[in-house]
Amino acid sequence: MDDLIDKPAPPGDDKPIDPRRYFEAAAVRAGGEVETPPVCLYLEVTNRCNLLCTTCPRTYAKLEPPADMSWALFTRIADQVPGLTRAVLHGVGEPMLVRNLPKMVRYLKDRGVYVLFNTNGTVLNEKNGRALIEAGLDELRVSFDASNAKSYIKVRGKDYFNRILKNVKAFRALQEREGHLKPRVSAWLTGMKETIEELPAFVRVAAETGVREVYLQRLVFFDQDQIGLARPDQALFESMEKGEAHYLKEAEAVAKTLGMTFSASGAASEPGMSLKKRGDSPWSLCRRPWTVMYFTANGRALPCCIAPFSQHGYENYTLGDATQDSLREIWNGARYQDFRDSLLSDQPPQACASCGLRWSL
Ligand SMILES: C[S@@+](CC[C@H](N)C(=O)[O-])C[C@H]1O[C@@H](n2cnc3c(N)ncnc32)[C@H](O)[C@@H]1O
Ligand code: SF4
Ligand code: SF4
Repeated sequence: MDDLIDKPAPPGDDKPIDPRRYFEAAAVRAGGEVETPPVCLYLEVTNRCNLLCTTCPRTYAKLEPPADMSWALFTRIADQVPGLTRAVLHGVGEPMLVRNLPKMVRYLKDRGVYVLFNTNGTVLNEKNGRALIEAGLDELRVSFDASNAKSYIKVRGKDYFNRILKNVKAFRALQEREGHLKPRVSAWLTGMKETIEELPAFVRVAAETGVREVYLQRLVFFDQDQIGLARPDQALFESMEKGEAHYLKEAEAVAKTLGMTFSASGAASEPGMSLKKRGDSPWSLCRRPWTVMYFTANGRALPCCIAPFSQHGYENYTLGDATQDSLREIWNGARYQDFRDSLLSDQPPQACASCGLRWSL
């Protein structure tokens, strides 16, 4: 997940779309059809995974039948958005388990798309790393989610921390040795009370692997059933205590000393930003339903990458099926229109109410 903080579109802005601020391109209104196609596609290239993260809905429920996205479905979706700006090749699953991944990246790069994905880094090696470099991948975001092996097991369910560090270090060394500027590699930590004190150490560990960018990602949690570590009491939102704020400041200082960039997920330029509450109806700031389409490995259209983390049950917010309908039919279909309308109302879809109101990290 990423870019969780959306902003309203600036009026009359006809500059080219920045792939990192794509959501600003939306012309937002209730009712009727949306003239512009999505600028960003999330394609869940697989829903398989080799970890059991205690923050992830996949660990606690079978969301859909296990699948990798077929090449036919992938191209069918991508070909329907010829002017696409940005593609994110992960959903709820581990994208680097997919054999076709470099081919998918190449297919999108040949069409001028900015391509990235998050990975757990467990299977990154010289062969698949090289294939991704050659395919032209723009960004590789590695979920460290801890600063040491002990807390890694707690958060990610398996004892792979040292393996990930080794993989990332080798990949960064390869890039430096051969002068590959892309993909930009970043390290991510999902912010929780459980791990906030590790933030400065996390920055140091990331630096040791050769990564230059670190990100603090906000925890999205289920409102009703409280599972694993994706619980309200783990989120830092509105409950940042003095000591916790101190770790954030210290991590910023460490990053500065080491010449690294440190940001919170989304467009916030300083990490603390995403910890603060954003008004009484924060969901109304969200522009995803006007800019983004998300497809599961089986072709199901969802509003965004956050919904699976904030509300159980895909049925509650399924907006279409790319194996049956065209993207245009889905994008301007009754379910999408209703979803947009309710997002602009006082009674947002349930997934959005908990996503926005719990604007935690
Ligand atoms: C669902 S994963 C898919 C990609 C890959 N499997 C990985 O873990 O990086 C995408 C991102 O969501 C993060 N994540 C997991 N649980 C989360 C939660 N409850 N809130 C926010 N981010 C979460 C992961 O750490 C990862 O960076
Ligand atoms: S967060 Fe990523 S690595 Fe962890 S279980 Fe979910 S999909 Fe797998
Ligand atoms: S759950 Fe709703 S408010 Fe949250 S990012 Fe998705 S569409 Fe936006």
